[in-house]
Amino acid sequence: MSVTLVTGGAGYIGAHVVRALLANGDRVVVVDDLSTGFADRVDVPLVPLDLAGAGASEALASVLEEERVDSVVHLAALKDVGESVADPERYYRVNVLGVVHVLEAMRRAGVRELVFSSSAAVYGNVDSESVDEDAPCRPINPYGRSKLVGEWAIEDATRAWGLRALRLRYFNVAGAGGRHLQDRVAANLIPIVLDRVRRGEPAQVFGADHPTADGTCVRDYVHVEDLADAHVAAVQALRSDSTGDDALNIGTGRGASVREVIDVVGAVTGTTAEARVVDRRVGDPAAMVANPGRAHRLIGWRARRDLREIVRSAGE
Ligand SMILES: NC(=O)c1ccc[n+]([C@@H]2O[C@H](COP(=O)([O-])OP(=O)(O)OC[C@H]3O[C@@H](n4cnc5c(N)ncnc54)[C@H](O)[C@@H]3O)[C@@H](O)[C@H]2O)c1
Repeated sequence: MSVTLVTGGAGYIGAHVVRALLANGDRVVVVDDLSTGFADRVDVPLVPLDLAGAGASEALASVLEEERVDSVVHLAALKDVGESVADPERYYRVNVLGVVHVLEAMRRAGVRELVFSSSAAVYGNVDSESVDEDAPCRPINPYGRSKLVGEWAIEDATRAWGLRALRLRYFNVAGAGGRHLQDRVAANLIPIVLDRVRRGEPAQVFGADHPTADGTCVRDYVHVEDLADAHVAAVQALRSDSTGDDALNIGTGRGASVREVIDVVGAVTGTTAEARVVDRRVGDPAAMVANPGRAHRLIGWRARRDLREIVRSAGE
């Protein structure tokens, strides 16, 4: 039986990844400082550890050795873009130093397979609607930059000591695989619209004059269970030696506009979801959709769930 260590496994995405790995037959160990995670989301051994703290690489190396870990999935990080603008040092400490400590620990313990949670935020403002992994990375906020620096550190480790790593660039993650796995501090469009509609308030739309079919921003929403399956596929690809140093977009390849999301929320909740248009937000790209072709080619993954399923599961 293969052993996978999941950092941030008590988080929203991490808990789905843990469940998918268990279903795949892995033994799973979680490392998490529970700063934004919840221990009741997972039913596997949980080692409490701040991965950005002093002595973290030594402590993590001991866990890797004692638990005979084969692969690491590193999700532990901070993810609030606004917070990252106000407190960049904290974001670089947790998101960059966290990666450095994970790499040091893996090198020390001789663990060579890593799947890393990156983000479409590494691209920044894109020139074309469909984004592939060769698009230039020009992140526009400290969160996106901290993820890109993490990617660079990982790439360098693959050259230096034989680490084999896949960096997964998630697009807009939403939905849930059950009530107890919901994102409890959701700041994304779908939970926000659901919340407004339930309170009988109109959903806010930032700009209806973007150069898109209906004038509202278009994004690629990926179901968190599909995302979790991508991690299993990535771990398996690393184990089978079929790949070793790549960035992969994890999205559906299909865009949905803000208006479309509001309509689907209305249909799923059986209400008339109203929209109130306000000014555009600075720096919001009009449209950003993944080209997920490389993930399909390299690890055989493709999203299976649609927007309706995402909204339905997010509203449970
Ligand atoms: N949610 C999204 O839409 C999205 C999109 C792109 C990328 N990501 C990335 O996915 C990962 C998981 O995000 P999430 O949405 O599940 O967030 P989350 O906040 O629910 O989970 C993060 C987990 O990491 C833990 N953690 C944070 N700092 C830590 C530290 N220093 N040491 C140990 N554990 C620590 C938290 O306690 C939490 O359990 C992050 O790396 C995030 O940047 C998320």
